Amino acid sequence: MSKVTTLHEFIMNRQAEFPFATGELSRLLNDISTASKIVSRDVRRAGLFEDIIGAEGGVNVQGEEQQKLDVIADELFIKMFQYGGEVCGIGSEENDDYLPFDNEQSKKGKYVVLFDPLDGSSNIDVNVSIGTIFSIFRRKSDAGSTATMEDMLQKGSEQVAAGYVLYGSSTMLVYTTGHGVNGFTLDPSIGEFCLSHPDMKMPEKSRLYSMNEGNIDVCHPGIQNYVKYCQETDPSTGRPYSGRYIGSLVADFHRSLIKGGIYIYPGTEQNPNGKLRLMYECNPLAFIAEQSGGIATNGKERIMDISPSSLHQRVPYIVGSKEQVEQLMNCIQEADAQHVG
Ligand code: AHG
Ligand code: MN
Ligand code: MN
Repeated sequence: MSKVTTLHEFIMNRQAEFPFATGELSRLLNDISTASKIVSRDVRRAGLFEDIIGAEGGVNVQGEEQQKLDVIADELFIKMFQYGGEVCGIGSEENDDYLPFDNEQSKKGKYVVLFDPLDGSSNIDVNVSIGTIFSIFRRKSDAGSTATMEDMLQKGSEQVAAGYVLYGSSTMLVYTTGHGVNGFTLDPSIGEFCLSHPDMKMPEKSRLYSMNEGNIDVCHPGIQNYVKYCQETDPSTGRPYSGRYIGSLVADFHRSLIKGGIYIYPGTEQNPNGKLRLMYECNPLAFIAEQSGGIATNGKERIMDISPSSLHQRVPYIVGSKEQVEQLMNCIQEADAQHVG
C-alpha cells in the first residue's frame, strides 16, 4: 500500500508551491472540508431522526420547498465561513440576499464563497446521492470594508477555486484551484478525506446522456435532435446510448467526470433560462469540467464567460465530455440555421 495523503496534507503541499501564498485559501478549503464532514454525518443519520429528515416548512427565494437538511447545511457552512476569518461574505441558494459578515476579522477576509449547501435535496427522503457545491472568488472591494454585491457577481472565469462534496455511497470531496482536479474520499474510520482520485480527467466521450426527458418536447429542437441521435441504435455496438438521470446535478456531474457523459438542463418554453443557478451550481462545476478536459456552455456561450446580473440567476446548462458537448452544440447551430433559412 502506498502512503496515504490526506486532504489537509495535500492542500499544505500545494500551498508550498506558491511562494507568496498567505495560507488563507488553504485554511478556507480546510474549513469547507470540516463543515462537509459534519453535514456528511447528518446525511448518514437522517433517516433515524425527525429533526434531520423531511420538509422544513418554508420556501426559499427560488420558490422551492426547503428540506430540514437544506437549512442545517446552510447554517453550518455559514457559521464556518463567518468565524473562519478568510471570508468577508457569502451568497447561498437558500438565502434571499447575499450576507456580508460584520465582525472585524471577517471584514479583513480576502474571499467570498457562493454555494449550494445541499444539491438534489428532493432526493434526501429516498436515500439517493446529494451534495454541496461551492465557488470561491477573491473579493473586489477593499479588505477591511463590508462585502458588496460586486464581490458576489463575478464571472466564473474569475473563480479562484471551486468544488463539491458528494454524499454518495461514500463521501467524496472534489476540487480545483485551476491546476487540475483532485478527488478525496472520506475514510470514516479516521475522519479524514484521503486522496483517492489524483489528477482527474473527464473522458472525451462516452455512450451516456443525462437529461430530465420530461422536458424534451418543450426544449430547443437542436437538443431534441441530439437526444434522438443518442437513442438511435449505433450499428457498431448494436445499441443506443444509455440514459442516466439521478436528479442531483452534483451526482450526475460526478458520473460524467469519471465515466464521461453529457448533462443537459435546457431552457424550456415556460422557463427559458432552465432551472440551474449560475452562481451556485453551473460556475463551480464548469470550472471543474474545464480543468478536467470537459466543456460547460449554455448552448451559445461558455458558462464561465457569462457576466452575472443577479445572485440567483438561472441559465440553460450543458456540461460534460468534450466531444459530446461539441456535437450537441453543432445540433443547436444546425437547427438554428434551418429555422432562419
Ligand atoms: P437543489 O436541490 O439544490 O434545489 O437542486 C436541484 C436541481 C439539480 O440538482 C437537479 O439536477 C435538478 O434540480 C433536477 O431538476 P428536475 O427535477 O426538474 O429534473
Ligand atoms: Mn442545487
Ligand atoms: Mn440546494
